[in-house]
Amino acid sequence: ESWLAGFLAGVAAAGRREGAGSDAPAATIDVLIGTQTGNAELVAEDIVAGARARGLGGRTAALDDVTPDALAAMSHVIVVTSTYGEGEMPDNAGLFWEALQSDTAPRLEGVRYSVLGLGDRGYDDFCQAAKLIDTRLEQLGATRVHDRVDCDVDYEEPATEWTAAVLDLVAAETGATATAAPAPKAPARPRSAWNKRTPYPSRLTTNRLLSSPHSAKEIRHYEFDLADSGITYEAGDALAVVPLNDEQLVTDLLTHLGESGDQPELTQLLRTEREIRTPSKELIADLVERAPESELASVVAHGDRSDLDSWLWGRDVLDLLRDAGPKAPALPELLPLLRPLQARQYSISSSPLAHPGSVHLTVASVRYDRYEGVASTYLADRVGADSTVGIYLQPNASFSVPADDSSPMIMIGPGTGIAPFRGFLHERAARGASGRNWLFFGDRHRETDFVYEDELTLLRDQGVLTELDLAFSRDQAEKIYVQTRMRERSRELYAWLEDGAHVYVCGDASRMAKDVETALLGVIAEQRGRGDDDAAEYLATLRRAKRYVRDVY
Ligand code: 2AM
Repeated sequence: ESWLAGFLAGVAAAGRREGAGSDAPAATIDVLIGTQTGNAELVAEDIVAGARARGLGGRTAALDDVTPDALAAMSHVIVVTSTYGEGEMPDNAGLFWEALQSDTAPRLEGVRYSVLGLGDRGYDDFCQAAKLIDTRLEQLGATRVHDRVDCDVDYEEPATEWTAAVLDLVAAETGATATAAPAPKAPARPRSAWNKRTPYPSRLTTNRLLSSPHSAKEIRHYEFDLADSGITYEAGDALAVVPLNDEQLVTDLLTHLGESGDQPELTQLLRTEREIRTPSKELIADLVERAPESELASVVAHGDRSDLDSWLWGRDVLDLLRDAGPKAPALPELLPLLRPLQARQYSISSSPLAHPGSVHLTVASVRYDRYEGVASTYLADRVGADSTVGIYLQPNASFSVPADDSSPMIMIGPGTGIAPFRGFLHERAARGASGRNWLFFGDRHRETDFVYEDELTLLRDQGVLTELDLAFSRDQAEKIYVQTRMRERSRELYAWLEDGAHVYVCGDASRMAKDVETALLGVIAEQRGRGDDDAAEYLATLRRAKRYVRDVY
């Protein structure tokens, strides 16, 4: 079904082999994964390989697949988890966390553990899920073998170092000795050779406006040539794009700093290595200290996080430097306050079966006033006809069409949330899958924002798209959202669930995904008539069965 499933099967088979012979490992490490985007799975894969190399056993599981009793029976545990939204557990760890918090959770005296957090320092609740789990395991009597490390978006290096340190400790404790034996089985779906450091230079073959020129939004369709990259993906995976900063912005910044434009290395650094649009927390703190009388300083002093966010809305690094006037840091002080330029991840909107050798994205260009998003405007405006775009694959094993072609799918994706569902529908059409497909889509106005209307119409005519419910929020006085349509179709929606439908949600995490979940719970409660707790348990069961999955950001 997925590379992870294949990988797990390989691990299980290896475990049996190891257990049978005299070279049984000194100990087996259970690597427990909490993930939203799949990064934790990649790290877990490396941990298992590292364990093997040290003569230890290793196997992985999703946190939600581990009961507290099963956890209590484990001897060596490594938790690798990201955090979702505002400090919440990722989608495959919520049930684990609920059970662990319960008063009836077992004591964990026999468990030796270490926790690795994956996150993004740009968020206030940086690595919150990892922190919570780390603290709770200790409270329950488990022994921490190695201190937690919380990795920022550039997680590879610290994660690799941490892994080596933890595994060395476990190996020393258990008297494991290194084996020269190679890993028993390559993962069914090997990790692509291309990554952040060496992205694949891909040709952008299509850059097309999807929304109407009269729309308030600009949504574009992109196609990248995979040529000889060897990149193989599945519908539902994500693609990382390595952007370049706007040359004009680099020039403006250098000019403002009183630097001559005639410094190729510096220009290159600012163009390819640093975030020069969005002010970092470090830069803000520095500016507040330098100019305590500034408006920024007053917002920081008197407002909360959301006041600061709205003040920062539409302001970029250069704006802040201008505001600070002569008190602004000069280039040498400024450089360390700029964060490394990040690759941006987008949900892939194609299926490799329908478009072999090519990968598609559906991206909203971020533009308001003078402020422009880095990667979305790079793709829209700044990729020359004969230049290439650095890309690499970010697999998302948990977000894919059902393995069973006859299972119904319910897809909820307003705005650019439609992206993976275009891929899913193409995938199912190409497979000749018999399962029914239901899409909830919407945006502001039908006239200007109904992207892929032709394709969706065709898919309906072909019988691939069984149901299409549209919610255009601003075509009438009252707001109509996808969840409005879900509630209107409560009875059918529940019938689909009872028929084994998989439910997918993609798009905005801050409001839409929460409201859609509330609507889903409401539909279940109404149709079952057994109250809210029953509805919550019904949805939890779907989640456990991986029949309710989200790709939200
Ligand atoms: P609005 O901008 O008119 O509020 C894609 O952005 C679509 O999602 C738009 O129609 C937008 O409507 C809508 N949207 C905004 N907030 C939402 C929410 N909380 N739940 C669902 N859809 C929402």
